[in-house]
Amino acid sequence: MHVAEAIASRKSIRAFKPDPVPRVVVEDILTRAARAPSGGNLQPWRVYALLGAARDELVRRVTEARRQHPMGESPEYLVYPPNLAEPWRTRRFRIGEAMYEALGIPRGDMSARLAHITRNWQFFDAPVGLMFTIDRCMQQGQWADLGMFLQNVMLLARAHGLHTCAIEAWAMWHRQVREYLSIPDSEMLFCGMALGHADEAAPVNALVSERAPLEEFAVIRESL
Ligand SMILES: Cc1cc2nc3c(=O)[nH]c(=O)nc-3n(C[C@H](O)[C@H](O)[C@H](O)COP(=O)(O)O)c2cc1C
Repeated sequence: MHVAEAIASRKSIRAFKPDPVPRVVVEDILTRAARAPSGGNLQPWRVYALLGAARDELVRRVTEARRQHPMGESPEYLVYPPNLAEPWRTRRFRIGEAMYEALGIPRGDMSARLAHITRNWQFFDAPVGLMFTIDRCMQQGQWADLGMFLQNVMLLARAHGLHTCAIEAWAMWHRQVREYLSIPDSEMLFCGMALGHADEAAPVNALVSERAPLEEFAVIRESL
């Protein structure tokens, strides 16, 4: 698959089919993804891949823990800046509204919206759940490196005919994830990711997110 095709066909998938993804495919994706560049070649990423019963048990534990904390505990880092300014605030609002529209959930139906949020913690039924961590000593540059690793995973998934959804909502459950996977305190959970076969019939997967035009984010100069 051409890289441009992988990029164009990648989108966040929020309904997966139960078809399993073989361990060898997960290993192949992660091995190739580690060709991502990183400043000083630190390769600061770490990933925990959960398949089969190991994935199901984490989902079960979090489902149980939701009785105490229906919306999760709290993340270890600020997922968004406080008081998000424009244009980011509107972008965030618009994708949320577009997603609930695709799901057929009306604006005021808070219980249906909350029910959808809990789907994040089921990996949207994907058979593989990934957890990405980074050492606490790492700085902004290494978080960017981690992002490139994540993007590689998402694009390599496309090359296998698979889809993904990065899931920051998992940061809300960092204690549960840490305990379950025996993640050392020196590591921080960045996000989870669902990996599997898209349910093409699911209306939510028809959503195509907007992008700002080139002039809005790029400055290109040729002449003095
Ligand atoms: C690091 C990261 C975390 C994300 N976390 C979530 C999440 O918790 N739940 C969710 O539904 N989508 C999540 N997304 C998906 C974004 O909403 C999505 O990438 C964005 O709206 C653009 O849409 P696209 O991925 O379909 O192009 C996340 C994306 C990234 C990169």
